Amino acid sequence: MYKIKIITSTTREGRKGIAVANWITEMARQTNTFEVELLDLARVNLPFMDEPNHPRLQQYKHAHTKDWSAKISEADAFIFVLAEYNFAFPAPIKNAIDYLFNEWKYKPVAFVSYGGVSGGLRSTQMLKQVVAAVYMTAIVDQVILPFFGKHIDDKGIFVPDELISKSADAMLKELERCTEGLKGMRTK
Ligand SMILES: Cc1cc2nc3c(=O)[nH]c(=O)nc-3n(C[C@H](O)[C@H](O)[C@H](O)COP(=O)(O)O)c2cc1C
Repeated sequence: MYKIKIITSTTREGRKGIAVANWITEMARQTNTFEVELLDLARVNLPFMDEPNHPRLQQYKHAHTKDWSAKISEADAFIFVLAEYNFAFPAPIKNAIDYLFNEWKYKPVAFVSYGGVSGGLRSTQMLKQVVAAVYMTAIVDQVILPFFGKHIDDKGIFVPDELISKSADAMLKELERCTEGLKGMRTK
């Protein structure tokens, strides 16, 4: 079974992205294709990148980096649950990527983006440039959630409509296909 890590992008108090992350985590579990783990950056709690060496060398000084490296190393695929801050990706997700290099390499990443009218599209387009720099493959099929707050109920649970569920199914299928393909790249 492929290991998939679902990673949040925001860490602020009262963040709403966690509702979206919990929903897509459950969807991914239901496929029975992936062994799923949600990595909430608010809990991972990385400081701003503080390693003395380039991550390519993997000479990590700090325990938080070694722990993060171990988590990302074991993954076969990722889903980033991506907010949009000021027309771009939030800083915590960029910071979490910058800590590592080889651990991301030749692995697929899918996006579930959320926001106002743009649904996090601008944020995703920008982050695609970053993930390409660490040799990740961005999945084309994306879940885009404009005005996502209207799908969060009074208990803080994200409730998708049919269109959203269908786009999540399509994204997960494509992610599985690319996970299979890219695994070969990593073993060679
Ligand atoms: C600093 C900041 C900047 C924001 N900028 C945008 C933006 O550019 N586009 C957008 O669609 N929403 C923007 N929003 C609204 C967010 O979509 C909304 O607050 C969302 O809940 C943020 O995700 P979070 O709750 O997980 O932090 C912004 C919110 C914050 C806090």
